[in-house]
Amino acid sequence: MRRKVIAGNWKMNKDIHETANLIVELMDRMKDFKNQVDVIICPPYTSLVVAKSLIKDFPIKLGAQNMSQYDDGAYTGEISVTMLTAIGCQYVILGHSERRQYFKETDDLINSKVKKALSAGLTPIVCIGETLEEREAGVTDKIITTQIKGVLRELSSSEVEKIIIAYEPVWAIGTGKNATPEQANQVHKLIRKLIGQLYSWALAEKILIQYGGSMNAENAASLLSQSDIDGGLIGGASLKSDAFVTIIQAGVESPTH
Ligand code: 13P
Repeated sequence: MRRKVIAGNWKMNKDIHETANLIVELMDRMKDFKNQVDVIICPPYTSLVVAKSLIKDFPIKLGAQNMSQYDDGAYTGEISVTMLTAIGCQYVILGHSERRQYFKETDDLINSKVKKALSAGLTPIVCIGETLEEREAGVTDKIITTQIKGVLRELSSSEVEKIIIAYEPVWAIGTGKNATPEQANQVHKLIRKLIGQLYSWALAEKILIQYGGSMNAENAASLLSQSDIDGGLIGGASLKSDAFVTIIQAGVESPTH
């Protein structure tokens, strides 16, 4: 049985004051939830400390949106894995398509960050997904296969078991155009099949695969009820407590697989 994971990627939104307000609202709206799904928030680096202090006794977990592949040293502007674990982060989003597109992150670089995160006990949420041109050219499966092989290179079965994969079709991110539940589930099935072929079918059954890309309060229930969708990585709709909590509720009510 795979537990649903609902994560909010706040991207470059919310200063420390807005962070505190949003978390207080979230905790208020979530007070009747009984821990049935894992809820993660990933605010900007500058908000992590204040976020951690507010959620410390509450079943919301903390994640970062990126981190360096290096341990420490002269890397101006970078944040290391131990800086994140010292705050109490348990998750880190790696390889988001915005990092790939604007900051030229490659599968190779993402692979080294995944290894670094795992070595420090942080759970990587590793993002993959095709662009609109790739989907229209009919090469989605090829792109997903290349990305999966690239980001998981040289990882053992026991390491991959600790990873969450987020399938985020680039054309669905921030566009209001989500993949249909069937379209998304088809790619999730492909990812599971690849894990089965590369590792084992037991691991393929266990690994958590989130969907991301214009998931919102209206479409969450139908996406989350799909057989191979184990949660959501939510951008815009995670910035409003009512929408995010409706999505969490949809996760609680959706069937587990
Ligand atoms: P939106 O939900 O705003 O489309 O963003 C999705 C995303 O990129 C989450 O990482």
